[in-house]
Amino acid sequence: MSDLHMPDPNDEQAWARYVEDFRLSAHSSVEWIASYLANIRTVPVLPTIQPGDLVDALPAHAPEQGESFDAILQDFHDKILPAVTQWNHPGFMAYFGTSASTPGILAELLIAAMNTNGLHWKTSPAVAELEQVALGWLRQWLGQPPEFFGIIYDTASTSTMHALICAREFAQPASRVEGYGGNLVVYTSEQAHSSVEKGAMAVGIGQKNVHKVPTDAEFRMRPDVLRSLIEADLRAGLQPCCIVATIGTTSSTSVDPVAQCAALAEEFNLWLHVDCAYAGPCALLPECAEHFVGIGRAHSVVTNPHKWLMTPMDLSAFYTRKPEVLRQALSLVPEYLRASDDPRAVHLMDYGVPLGHRFRGLKLWFILRYFGREGVMQFLRRHNQLAREFAGWVDADSRFERVAPVPFSVVCFRLRGSDECNKTLLDKVNASGSTFLSHTALNNQYVIRIAIGNIATGRADVELAWKLIQAAAEEVLGEAVSIRQK
Ligand SMILES: Cc1ncc(COP(=O)(O)O)c(C=O)c1O
Repeated sequence: MSDLHMPDPNDEQAWARYVEDFRLSAHSSVEWIASYLANIRTVPVLPTIQPGDLVDALPAHAPEQGESFDAILQDFHDKILPAVTQWNHPGFMAYFGTSASTPGILAELLIAAMNTNGLHWKTSPAVAELEQVALGWLRQWLGQPPEFFGIIYDTASTSTMHALICAREFAQPASRVEGYGGNLVVYTSEQAHSSVEKGAMAVGIGQKNVHKVPTDAEFRMRPDVLRSLIEADLRAGLQPCCIVATIGTTSSTSVDPVAQCAALAEEFNLWLHVDCAYAGPCALLPECAEHFVGIGRAHSVVTNPHKWLMTPMDLSAFYTRKPEVLRQALSLVPEYLRASDDPRAVHLMDYGVPLGHRFRGLKLWFILRYFGREGVMQFLRRHNQLAREFAGWVDADSRFERVAPVPFSVVCFRLRGSDECNKTLLDKVNASGSTFLSHTALNNQYVIRIAIGNIATGRADVELAWKLIQAAAEEVLGEAVSIRQK
């Protein structure tokens, strides 16, 4: 075994050779990243491989002897990259657009290099304190009150699961010791993300105890029905514990009436969690303020900088005005982790299921500093404006219909015709290699979504998407006519 791959740590020269090997490959990797980002338009947004192709192309066993960075990077280039769906591509307009911005990429490199772990304050004061600083800045941008405590988890699904843990603790303080006593009910709209149900499954509340509230014609939760559901459940001897409202639902980006949900939460003493995983950053924009009315009355809020705030996967910001409930539910300190009781020493392990805590705060801090408030506002406004323009093109073309309002940067539309026609249209567009769109179902119909949210996406990319959609529509409608004529 070469000492390059497993140096004797006390052999200074061997250690230096090991680090030097990294230095050379790291320089060329950074060069590679820069040209990848510069030329991202030229690679196909979707890979063309079949399931299992990559597994078949790679050895079944790990190597006995360490291999060179050159060999590993060569395989990365030849075998792994062709299997990557390019979320950084300006034509990636499926699901929600995301982007790995340059400050985020740089911070990820530094985070990995330090490999520091913020279990409690002393295990890395920088992790504990920078996370509070960066989340404090973000909280101010989101317009949330200063009493909101923030913590970073991996994803919104984890954040919402923690909100449900809080709701369970809030409603049944004995549950931590005794186990959950049953009967709890969570309310969310029928348009809410599946993570609400999954969270309820994970924390033992159970899928059937997530009561779905119907929505109005614009896919917003109906507070009148919410009230009747709560009242009916109380009469039936159940224990309502939580309302999950969404600002920017996954399918159509509809906005639930948060202020009315807050009023009901206050009246019935329920936990109110607001999921603005995607749309949260728009709270910065005065023109979007109407969508965020009441958010300051929530008990907890989640927003995902890894969705629409240029942050590489993963980073979900969870805020709660009642950190003591979260702590009561989850703090458990074995002797070996006993730490300072200085009130300024935040021990992140007390506020979540995971013990280990990545230095994600560094990434957020880099991004907020690099772009600043104005840069972020410009970024969001660009996308909202492009979505409005796209909606105008759809409205002006009688072959299409728009299916939902456009409060943010997603447009839901469909070709007037069968679900099958719309599926074919989507497949044709996605086969282009330059645009990737996804679908959803609204009003029991197949609906196409265009989601603009990538730092690399400009007007020309959205125009190209529209041209591809129009060309595909011509083909699909032509095919439908010829089938009818046969
Ligand atoms: C509104 C909303 N909430 C939660 C989620 C789940 O996000 P994550 O992948 O971070 O768990 C999504 C995902 O798109 C979402 O749109």
